[in-house]
Amino acid sequence: MTRPFVFINAAMSADGKISTVERKQTRISGTEDIDRVDSLKAGSDAIMVGIGTILADNPSLTVKSESRREKRDKVGKDANPIRIVVDSTARTPVDAEILNKGEGKRIIAVSQRAILEDIDLLSKKADILVCGTEKVDLKELLHILWLRGLRRVMVEGGATLNWSLISEQLVDEIYTYIGNMILGGERAPTLVDGEGFKLGGETTGGIVKLELLRMVKLDAGLLLQWRVQGSQGSGFTVPG
Ligand SMILES: NC(=O)c1ccc[n+]([C@@H]2O[C@H](COP(=O)([O-])OP(=O)(O)OC[C@H]3O[C@@H](n4cnc5c(N)ncnc54)[C@H](OP(=O)(O)O)[C@@H]3O)[C@@H](O)[C@H]2O)c1
Repeated sequence: MTRPFVFINAAMSADGKISTVERKQTRISGTEDIDRVDSLKAGSDAIMVGIGTILADNPSLTVKSESRREKRDKVGKDANPIRIVVDSTARTPVDAEILNKGEGKRIIAVSQRAILEDIDLLSKKADILVCGTEKVDLKELLHILWLRGLRRVMVEGGATLNWSLISEQLVDEIYTYIGNMILGGERAPTLVDGEGFKLGGETTGGIVKLELLRMVKLDAGLLLQWRVQGSQGSGFTVPG
């Protein structure tokens, strides 16, 4: 199934954690990296997150720079990319920042498990796409996005969504910002959680191999840009 170019962007500690053990967002990068992420957002057609990230962090996922919003406007795009929540049972709170802050379209992708009352409530603020029976069928979702003309999708986590996308071979590139801190905690989320690949196991696709495209010292840490080997990636480059 044809799909857009998909890349994950995440900030992690030097020990690979993307938040603290209480699953609370913490500042891992600095101003240079925050600006880089804003630029990536502004250059994307959509930004996708899992419902776990919405409930934990309540992000708005808007483009912060006014000049970048204006630039999008000049070429006929909404100020913010389409914001997408992967949310099987339509648990996104109606007062969530992502549904209320900043102009632009929103999509909540649900599965057939979502009940009509919740869908109705959310449909006042977002387009609802029903994909899959239990979990959201990510392949189908990405294909629908492609059919709607979306060509570049940025994924902003979290760990569970990252696992599904990567293990289903739906990711082309990964940006990992590695911050100068240790967060620790056996149960703190990492860049990719989920079931994990097993040696000789049956998990779809096997262990995913990456090719390092770029390595830059940024703020007090390091930015790595990876291409997923075997992906259809077209080499989206980080600005700056
Ligand atoms: N440092 C960073 O860059 C960064 C960025 C983002 C998030 N985070 C952190 O990541 C943590 C949240 O991660 P998380 O793993 O708890 O949640 P998540 O990955 O944001 O969302 C996972 C949820 O999405 C839903 N989902 C529906 N269909 C799915 C599918 N096919 N595959 C996977 N998920 C599907 C599931 O809930 P339902 O079954 O209810 O649908 C699942 O539990 C937070 O602590 C947050 O602070 C860090």
